[in-house]
Amino acid sequence: MRTQVAIAGAGPAGLLLSHLLRLRGIDSVVLESRDRAYVERRQRAGMLEQGTVDVLRGSGVGERLDREGLTHHGLELRFGGAGHRIPLSELTGGRTVTIYAQTEIVKDLIAARPAAGGEIHFETEVLSVDPSAPSVTYRRDGRVETLECDVIAGCDGFHGVCRPAVPDTRLHEREFPFAWLGILADVPPSTDELIYAYSERGFALHSLRSPKISRLYLQVDPAEDVAAWPDERIWSELRARFATDDGWELRDGPILEKSITPMRSFVAEPMRHDRLFLAGDAAHIVPPTGAKGLNLAISDVIVLAEALGAWYDSGTTELLDAYSDTCLRRVWRAEHFSYWMTTLLHKDPRQDAFGHRLQLSHLEYVAASKAAATTLAENYVGAAPTL
Ligand code: FAD
Ligand code: PHB
Repeated sequence: MRTQVAIAGAGPAGLLLSHLLRLRGIDSVVLESRDRAYVERRQRAGMLEQGTVDVLRGSGVGERLDREGLTHHGLELRFGGAGHRIPLSELTGGRTVTIYAQTEIVKDLIAARPAAGGEIHFETEVLSVDPSAPSVTYRRDGRVETLECDVIAGCDGFHGVCRPAVPDTRLHEREFPFAWLGILADVPPSTDELIYAYSERGFALHSLRSPKISRLYLQVDPAEDVAAWPDERIWSELRARFATDDGWELRDGPILEKSITPMRSFVAEPMRHDRLFLAGDAAHIVPPTGAKGLNLAISDVIVLAEALGAWYDSGTTELLDAYSDTCLRRVWRAEHFSYWMTTLLHKDPRQDAFGHRLQLSHLEYVAASKAAATTLAENYVGAAPTL
Protein backbone atom coordinates (compact mmCIF):
# COMPACT_ATOMS: atom_id res chain seq x y z
CA MET A 1 0.00 0.00 0.00
CA ARG A 2 1.17 3.57 -0.65
CA THR A 3 -0.21 6.99 0.28
CA GLN A 4 1.02 10.55 0.58
CA VAL A 5 0.54 10.97 4.35
CA ALA A 6 0.39 7.94 6.68
CA ILE A 7 -1.44 8.84 9.90
CA ALA A 8 -1.04 6.75 13.06
CA GLY A 9 -4.13 7.04 15.29
CA ALA A 10 -7.80 7.92 14.74
CA GLY A 11 -8.24 10.27 17.69
CA PRO A 12 -9.31 13.86 17.00
CA ALA A 13 -5.80 14.80 15.78
CA GLY A 14 -5.45 12.00 13.20
CA LEU A 15 -9.03 12.23 11.96
CA LEU A 16 -9.04 16.01 11.58
CA LEU A 17 -5.65 15.96 9.84
CA SER A 18 -6.90 13.40 7.34
CA HIS A 19 -10.03 15.51 6.75
CA LEU A 20 -8.09 18.78 6.26
CA LEU A 21 -5.64 17.08 3.89
CA ARG A 22 -8.45 15.68 1.78
CA LEU A 23 -9.87 19.21 1.39
CA ARG A 24 -6.46 20.18 -0.03
CA GLY A 25 -6.43 17.19 -2.40
CA ILE A 26 -3.75 15.31 -0.41
CA ASP A 27 -4.25 11.57 0.12
CA SER A 28 -3.84 9.99 3.52
CA VAL A 29 -4.44 6.69 5.26
CA VAL A 30 -5.33 6.52 8.97
CA LEU A 31 -4.31 3.40 10.89
CA GLU A 32 -6.09 2.86 14.23
CA SER A 33 -5.48 -0.03 16.61
CA ARG A 34 -8.97 -0.01 18.20
CA ASP A 35 -12.31 -0.82 16.58
CA ARG A 36 -14.67 1.91 15.40
CA ALA A 37 -17.24 1.40 18.18
CA TYR A 38 -14.55 1.81 20.85
CA VAL A 39 -13.16 4.99 19.29
CA GLU A 40 -16.68 6.47 18.99
CA ARG A 41 -17.61 5.64 22.59
CA ARG A 42 -14.51 6.76 24.48
CA GLN A 43 -15.50 9.59 26.90
CA ARG A 44 -12.96 12.37 27.16
CA ALA A 45 -12.90 16.12 26.79
CA GLY A 46 -15.80 18.46 26.06
CA MET A 47 -14.78 22.12 26.04
CA LEU A 48 -13.89 23.65 22.67
CA GLU A 49 -12.15 26.96 22.14
CA GLN A 50 -13.70 29.26 19.57
CA GLY A 51 -10.74 28.67 17.22
CA THR A 52 -11.47 24.92 17.33
CA VAL A 53 -15.15 25.48 16.58
CA ASP A 54 -14.28 27.85 13.71
CA VAL A 55 -12.04 25.23 12.06
CA LEU A 56 -14.58 22.40 12.39
CA ARG A 57 -17.30 24.67 10.98
CA GLY A 58 -15.07 26.08 8.23
CA SER A 59 -14.04 22.60 7.07
CA GLY A 60 -17.62 21.38 6.71
CA VAL A 61 -17.99 19.20 9.83
CA GLY A 62 -19.78 21.72 12.05
CA GLU A 63 -23.40 21.02 11.23
CA ARG A 64 -24.26 18.91 14.30
CA LEU A 65 -21.88 20.99 16.43
CA ASP A 66 -23.90 24.09 15.47
CA ARG A 67 -27.15 22.30 16.35
CA GLU A 68 -26.11 20.54 19.55
CA GLY A 69 -23.10 22.49 20.86
CA LEU A 70 -23.76 24.70 23.89
CA THR A 71 -22.21 28.16 23.73
CA HIS A 72 -20.81 29.47 27.01
CA HIS A 73 -20.03 33.10 27.88
CA GLY A 74 -18.70 32.60 31.40
CA LEU A 75 -17.68 30.16 34.12
CA GLU A 76 -17.92 30.06 37.89
CA LEU A 77 -15.10 29.76 40.38
CA ARG A 78 -16.54 28.46 43.64
CA PHE A 79 -14.75 28.53 46.98
CA GLY A 80 -15.42 29.51 50.59
CA GLY A 81 -19.12 28.68 50.16
CA ALA A 82 -19.75 31.23 47.36
CA GLY A 83 -19.61 31.44 43.57
CA HIS A 84 -17.61 34.06 41.61
CA ARG A 85 -18.48 34.45 37.94
CA ILE A 86 -15.71 35.01 35.40
CA PRO A 87 -17.43 36.72 32.43
CA LEU A 88 -15.28 35.14 29.70
CA SER A 89 -16.89 36.93 26.75
CA GLU A 90 -16.96 40.34 28.39
CA LEU A 91 -13.25 40.06 29.22
CA THR A 92 -12.14 38.81 25.79
CA GLY A 93 -13.91 41.05 23.29
CA GLY A 94 -16.88 38.72 22.86
CA ARG A 95 -15.19 35.35 22.48
CA THR A 96 -17.01 32.22 23.62
CA VAL A 97 -16.32 28.54 24.32
CA THR A 98 -18.53 25.63 23.31
CA ILE A 99 -19.45 22.38 25.05
CA TYR A 100 -19.51 19.55 22.52
CA ALA A 101 -18.06 16.16 23.43
CA GLN A 102 -14.81 14.95 21.86
CA THR A 103 -16.53 11.67 21.11
CA GLU A 104 -19.11 13.54 18.98
CA ILE A 105 -16.33 15.29 17.02
CA VAL A 106 -14.79 11.89 16.37
CA LYS A 107 -18.14 10.53 15.11
CA ASP A 108 -18.63 13.58 12.85
CA LEU A 109 -15.12 13.24 11.36
CA ILE A 110 -15.53 9.51 10.70
CA ALA A 111 -18.95 10.12 9.12
CA ALA A 112 -17.42 12.78 6.86
CA ARG A 113 -15.23 10.20 5.07
CA PRO A 114 -16.42 9.33 1.60
CA ALA A 115 -18.40 6.09 1.87
CA ALA A 116 -16.11 4.21 -0.50
CA GLY A 117 -12.92 5.96 0.60
CA GLY A 118 -11.45 3.33 2.87
CA GLU A 119 -8.86 5.72 4.23
CA ILE A 120 -9.47 4.79 7.88
CA HIS A 121 -8.38 1.31 8.88
CA PHE A 122 -9.64 0.26 12.30
CA GLU A 123 -8.21 -2.70 14.23
CA THR A 124 -4.90 -1.96 12.54
CA GLU A 125 -2.00 -1.55 14.93
CA VAL A 126 1.05 0.47 13.97
CA LEU A 127 4.10 -1.52 15.06
CA SER A 128 6.90 0.82 13.99
CA VAL A 129 7.64 3.83 11.81
CA ASP A 130 10.70 4.75 9.75
CA PRO A 131 11.07 8.55 9.66
CA SER A 132 13.92 8.50 7.08
CA ALA A 133 12.70 6.10 4.39
CA PRO A 134 9.16 7.08 5.31
CA SER A 135 7.00 4.04 5.93
CA VAL A 136 4.80 2.50 8.59
CA THR A 137 4.72 -1.17 9.57
CA TYR A 138 1.36 -2.36 10.86
CA ARG A 139 -0.53 -5.52 11.79
CA ARG A 140 -4.04 -6.22 10.55
CA ASP A 141 -5.93 -9.52 10.66
CA GLY A 142 -2.75 -11.13 12.02
CA ARG A 143 -0.68 -10.07 8.98
CA VAL A 144 2.22 -7.62 9.15
CA GLU A 145 2.40 -5.17 6.23
CA THR A 146 4.07 -1.91 5.25
CA LEU A 147 2.55 1.38 4.14
CA GLU A 148 4.93 3.51 2.06
CA CYS A 149 4.41 7.28 2.22
CA ASP A 150 5.96 10.74 1.83
CA VAL A 151 5.31 11.80 5.40
CA ILE A 152 4.20 10.16 8.68
CA ALA A 153 1.90 11.96 11.14
CA GLY A 154 2.27 10.52 14.64
CA CYS A 155 -1.20 11.12 16.10
CA ASP A 156 -1.18 7.95 18.20
CA GLY A 157 -1.58 9.51 21.64
CA PHE A 158 0.56 9.36 24.77
CA HIS A 159 1.12 5.58 24.68
CA GLY A 160 1.76 5.34 20.93
CA VAL A 161 4.84 4.13 19.04
CA CYS A 162 5.69 7.32 17.12
CA ARG A 163 7.22 9.48 19.86
CA PRO A 164 9.98 6.93 20.64
CA ALA A 165 10.97 7.11 16.94
CA VAL A 166 12.15 10.72 17.42
CA PRO A 167 15.78 10.44 18.59
CA ASP A 168 17.30 12.76 21.20
CA THR A 169 13.99 14.14 22.44
CA ARG A 170 14.00 16.40 25.45
CA LEU A 171 11.23 15.19 27.78
CA HIS A 172 9.67 17.55 30.31
CA GLU A 173 7.34 15.97 32.82
CA ARG A 174 5.49 16.75 36.04
CA GLU A 175 3.24 14.24 37.83
CA PHE A 176 0.58 15.64 40.17
CA PRO A 177 -0.32 13.99 43.49
CA PHE A 178 -3.95 13.68 42.40
CA ALA A 179 -6.19 12.23 39.69
CA TRP A 180 -9.72 12.96 38.39
CA LEU A 181 -12.64 10.63 38.87
CA GLY A 182 -14.96 11.56 35.98
CA ILE A 183 -18.62 10.62 35.70
CA LEU A 184 -21.27 10.90 33.02
CA ALA A 185 -24.72 11.07 34.64
CA ASP A 186 -28.25 10.82 33.33
CA VAL A 187 -29.46 13.97 35.05
CA PRO A 188 -30.05 17.54 33.82
CA PRO A 189 -27.11 19.78 34.76
CA SER A 190 -27.58 21.78 37.97
CA THR A 191 -25.87 24.77 36.31
CA ASP A 192 -25.84 26.62 32.97
CA GLU A 193 -22.13 27.45 33.19
CA LEU A 194 -19.22 25.28 34.30
CA ILE A 195 -18.39 25.37 38.01
CA TYR A 196 -14.73 24.94 39.03
CA ALA A 197 -14.87 24.39 42.81
CA TYR A 198 -12.06 24.48 45.34
CA SER A 199 -12.85 23.06 48.76
CA GLU A 200 -10.91 21.77 51.73
CA ARG A 201 -12.01 18.29 50.60
CA GLY A 202 -10.45 18.80 47.14
CA PHE A 203 -11.38 20.04 43.67
CA ALA A 204 -14.65 19.35 41.85
CA LEU A 205 -15.88 20.38 38.39
CA HIS A 206 -19.46 20.50 37.18
CA SER A 207 -19.60 20.31 33.38
CA LEU A 208 -22.32 19.10 31.05
CA ARG A 209 -22.95 17.35 27.78
CA SER A 210 -26.52 18.32 26.94
CA PRO A 211 -29.64 19.72 28.64
CA LYS A 212 -30.21 16.18 29.95
CA ILE A 213 -26.71 14.79 30.63
CA SER A 214 -24.20 16.04 33.22
CA ARG A 215 -20.44 15.48 33.32
CA LEU A 216 -18.73 15.91 36.68
CA TYR A 217 -15.22 15.40 38.04
CA LEU A 218 -13.79 14.89 41.50
CA GLN A 219 -10.17 15.15 42.63
CA VAL A 220 -9.08 11.80 44.08
CA ASP A 221 -5.82 10.13 45.06
CA PRO A 222 -4.05 8.65 41.99
CA ALA A 223 -3.91 5.25 43.72
CA GLU A 224 -7.69 5.24 44.18
CA ASP A 225 -9.67 2.30 42.77
CA VAL A 226 -12.89 3.25 40.97
CA ALA A 227 -14.54 0.23 42.63
CA ALA A 228 -14.20 2.07 45.97
CA TRP A 229 -16.55 4.76 44.62
CA PRO A 230 -20.14 3.50 44.51
CA ASP A 231 -22.60 6.04 43.07
CA GLU A 232 -23.88 7.31 46.44
CA ARG A 233 -20.34 8.01 47.67
CA ILE A 234 -19.62 10.04 44.52
CA TRP A 235 -22.80 12.14 44.81
CA SER A 236 -22.30 12.75 48.51
CA GLU A 237 -18.69 13.88 47.98
CA LEU A 238 -19.75 16.13 45.09
CA ARG A 239 -22.51 17.69 47.24
CA ALA A 240 -19.98 18.41 49.99
CA ARG A 241 -17.47 20.01 47.60
CA PHE A 242 -20.03 22.17 45.77
CA ALA A 243 -21.88 23.27 48.95
CA THR A 244 -22.62 27.00 49.19
CA ASP A 245 -23.89 29.19 52.00
CA ASP A 246 -27.04 30.02 50.02
CA GLY A 247 -28.33 26.44 49.81
CA TRP A 248 -27.54 25.69 46.13
CA GLU A 249 -28.53 22.12 45.31
CA LEU A 250 -26.88 19.49 43.15
CA ARG A 251 -29.31 17.23 41.29
CA ASP A 252 -28.22 13.60 41.17
CA GLY A 253 -29.22 10.65 38.98
CA PRO A 254 -28.03 7.36 37.49
CA ILE A 255 -24.29 7.32 36.70
CA LEU A 256 -23.74 6.03 33.17
CA GLU A 257 -19.97 5.82 33.30
CA LYS A 258 -17.06 6.44 35.67
CA SER A 259 -13.31 6.33 35.27
CA ILE A 260 -10.15 7.66 36.91
CA THR A 261 -7.56 9.64 34.90
CA PRO A 262 -4.10 10.41 36.28
CA MET A 263 -2.94 14.00 35.85
CA ARG A 264 0.35 14.95 34.34
CA SER A 265 2.11 17.67 32.41
CA PHE A 266 4.36 16.38 29.64
CA VAL A 267 6.14 17.84 26.60
CA ALA A 268 8.48 16.11 24.14
CA GLU A 269 10.73 18.43 22.11
CA PRO A 270 11.14 18.62 19.17
CA MET A 271 7.88 17.44 17.62
CA ARG A 272 9.54 16.41 14.37
CA HIS A 273 12.27 14.13 13.11
CA ASP A 274 12.96 13.95 9.39
CA ARG A 275 9.64 12.92 7.75
CA LEU A 276 7.88 12.12 11.05
CA PHE A 277 5.69 14.81 12.63
CA LEU A 278 4.12 14.31 16.08
CA ALA A 279 0.75 15.92 16.87
CA GLY A 280 -1.57 16.03 19.90
CA ASP A 281 -1.13 13.77 22.93
CA ALA A 282 1.72 11.92 21.18
CA ALA A 283 3.84 15.01 21.86
CA HIS A 284 2.28 16.70 24.89
CA ILE A 285 -0.13 16.20 27.79
CA VAL A 286 -1.75 18.82 29.99
CA PRO A 287 -3.74 18.27 33.19
CA PRO A 288 -7.40 18.72 32.15
CA THR A 289 -8.17 21.67 34.47
CA GLY A 290 -7.56 24.21 31.71
CA ALA A 291 -9.53 22.17 29.09
CA LYS A 292 -6.64 22.46 26.65
CA GLY A 293 -5.68 18.86 25.60
CA LEU A 294 -8.14 18.47 22.75
CA ASN A 295 -7.76 22.08 21.60
CA LEU A 296 -3.98 21.71 21.40
CA ALA A 297 -4.28 18.49 19.39
CA ILE A 298 -6.50 20.32 16.93
CA SER A 299 -4.26 23.35 16.64
CA ASP A 300 -1.23 21.10 15.92
CA VAL A 301 -2.92 19.48 12.94
CA ILE A 302 -4.13 22.81 11.57
CA VAL A 303 -0.48 23.92 11.47
CA LEU A 304 0.60 20.59 9.96
CA ALA A 305 -2.10 20.54 7.27
CA GLU A 306 -1.16 24.04 6.17
CA ALA A 307 2.57 23.20 6.09
CA LEU A 308 1.98 20.02 4.10
CA GLY A 309 -0.31 21.91 1.74
CA ALA A 310 2.41 24.48 1.03
CA TRP A 311 4.98 21.71 0.50
CA TYR A 312 2.83 19.74 -1.94
CA ASP A 313 1.76 22.93 -3.76
CA SER A 314 5.14 24.57 -4.25
CA GLY A 315 7.86 22.40 -2.72
CA THR A 316 8.57 24.96 0.01
CA THR A 317 9.73 23.45 3.31
CA GLU A 318 9.58 26.70 5.27
CA LEU A 319 6.38 25.89 7.19
CA LEU A 320 7.33 22.25 7.71
CA ASP A 321 10.70 23.33 9.10
CA ALA A 322 8.93 25.74 11.47
CA TYR A 323 6.28 23.14 12.51
CA SER A 324 7.78 22.08 15.83
CA ASP A 325 8.62 25.60 17.00
CA THR A 326 5.26 26.99 15.88
CA CYS A 327 3.36 24.31 17.80
CA LEU A 328 5.57 24.38 20.88
CA ARG A 329 4.99 28.11 21.45
CA ARG A 330 1.29 27.45 21.89
CA VAL A 331 1.89 24.17 23.74
CA TRP A 332 4.06 25.83 26.39
CA ARG A 333 1.52 28.63 26.89
CA ALA A 334 -1.17 25.97 27.45
CA GLU A 335 1.17 23.98 29.71
CA HIS A 336 1.67 27.02 31.91
CA PHE A 337 -2.01 27.90 32.01
CA SER A 338 -3.08 24.31 32.77
CA TYR A 339 -0.47 24.01 35.53
CA TRP A 340 -1.62 27.35 36.96
CA MET A 341 -5.33 26.41 36.94
CA THR A 342 -4.49 23.02 38.45
CA THR A 343 -2.45 24.38 41.35
CA LEU A 344 -4.97 27.19 41.92
CA LEU A 345 -7.91 24.82 42.32
CA HIS A 346 -6.66 21.49 43.71
CA LYS A 347 -5.96 20.57 47.31
CA ASP A 348 -2.33 19.45 47.43
CA PRO A 349 -1.92 16.78 50.13
CA ARG A 350 1.69 17.91 50.67
CA GLN A 351 0.77 21.53 51.32
CA ASP A 352 1.64 23.26 54.62
CA ALA A 353 -0.40 25.99 56.34
CA PHE A 354 1.56 28.78 54.62
CA GLY A 355 0.97 27.28 51.17
CA HIS A 356 -2.72 26.92 52.01
CA ARG A 357 -3.09 30.60 52.92
CA LEU A 358 -1.25 31.62 49.73
CA GLN A 359 -3.64 29.51 47.67
CA LEU A 360 -6.74 31.09 49.30
CA SER A 361 -5.30 34.54 48.74
CA HIS A 362 -4.65 33.69 45.09
CA LEU A 363 -8.24 32.44 44.63
CA GLU A 364 -9.61 35.65 46.18
CA TYR A 365 -7.38 37.73 43.91
CA VAL A 366 -8.56 35.97 40.73
CA ALA A 367 -12.18 36.39 41.81
CA ALA A 368 -11.78 40.09 42.73
CA SER A 369 -9.28 41.52 40.25
CA LYS A 370 -10.31 42.30 36.70
CA ALA A 371 -6.70 41.96 35.53
CA ALA A 372 -6.33 38.48 37.04
CA ALA A 373 -9.74 37.36 35.76
CA THR A 374 -8.82 38.67 32.28
CA THR A 375 -5.66 36.57 32.27
CA LEU A 376 -7.70 33.50 33.13
CA ALA A 377 -10.36 34.33 30.54
CA GLU A 378 -7.88 35.03 27.70
CA ASN A 379 -6.11 31.74 28.21
CA TYR A 380 -9.28 29.74 28.77
CA VAL A 381 -10.95 30.88 25.55
CA GLY A 382 -7.65 30.59 23.70
CA ALA A 383 -7.55 34.20 22.60
CA ALA A 384 -3.82 34.81 23.08
CA PRO A 385 -3.23 36.76 19.86
CA THR A 386 0.28 35.75 18.87
CA LEU A 387 0.09 32.01 19.56
P1 FAD B 1 -5.94 10.37 21.28
O1 FAD B 1 -7.32 10.86 21.42
O2 FAD B 1 -5.32 9.66 22.43
O3 FAD B 1 -5.90 9.43 20.00
C1 FAD B 1 -4.83 8.58 19.72
C2 FAD B 1 -5.33 7.40 18.93
O4 FAD B 1 -4.24 6.58 18.55
C3 FAD B 1 -6.26 6.51 19.77
O5 FAD B 1 -7.45 6.28 19.05
C4 FAD B 1 -5.46 5.23 19.98
O6 FAD B 1 -6.29 4.09 20.05
C5 FAD B 1 -4.58 5.23 18.72
N1 FAD B 1 -3.33 4.46 18.84
C6 FAD B 1 -2.47 4.41 19.89
N2 FAD B 1 -1.43 3.61 19.61
C7 FAD B 1 -1.64 3.15 18.34
C8 FAD B 1 -0.90 2.27 17.50
N3 FAD B 1 0.25 1.73 17.90
N4 FAD B 1 -1.39 2.01 16.28
C9 FAD B 1 -2.56 2.56 15.85
N5 FAD B 1 -3.29 3.39 16.62
C10 FAD B 1 -2.84 3.69 17.85
N6 FAD B 1 -8.83 16.76 27.75
C11 FAD B 1 -9.60 17.75 28.16
O7 FAD B 1 -9.42 18.87 27.68
N7 FAD B 1 -10.61 17.51 29.08
C12 FAD B 1 -10.84 16.24 29.62
O8 FAD B 1 -11.73 16.05 30.41
C13 FAD B 1 -10.02 15.17 29.21
N8 FAD B 1 -10.20 13.90 29.68
C14 FAD B 1 -9.35 12.89 29.25
C15 FAD B 1 -9.52 11.58 29.73
C16 FAD B 1 -8.65 10.55 29.31
C17 FAD B 1 -8.84 9.14 29.84
C18 FAD B 1 -7.61 10.84 28.39
C19 FAD B 1 -6.66 9.73 27.94
C20 FAD B 1 -7.49 12.15 27.90
C21 FAD B 1 -8.35 13.18 28.32
N9 FAD B 1 -8.22 14.50 27.84
C22 FAD B 1 -9.01 15.50 28.25
C23 FAD B 1 -7.27 14.87 26.85
C24 FAD B 1 -7.87 14.84 25.45
O9 FAD B 1 -8.90 13.90 25.39
C25 FAD B 1 -6.72 14.54 24.53
O10 FAD B 1 -5.84 15.66 24.59
C26 FAD B 1 -7.13 14.24 23.10
O11 FAD B 1 -7.78 13.00 23.05
C27 FAD B 1 -5.88 14.24 22.20
O12 FAD B 1 -6.22 13.74 20.94
P2 FAD B 1 -5.20 12.92 20.10
O13 FAD B 1 -5.88 12.63 18.80
O14 FAD B 1 -3.88 13.58 20.10
O15 FAD B 1 -4.95 11.56 20.91
C1 PHB C 1 -15.49 18.41 30.16
O1 PHB C 1 -16.60 18.89 29.88
O2 PHB C 1 -15.25 17.20 30.03
C2 PHB C 1 -14.43 19.31 30.69
C3 PHB C 1 -14.67 20.68 30.72
C4 PHB C 1 -13.68 21.52 31.22
C5 PHB C 1 -12.50 20.98 31.69
C6 PHB C 1 -12.27 19.62 31.63
C7 PHB C 1 -13.25 18.78 31.14
O3 PHB C 1 -11.57 21.81 32.22
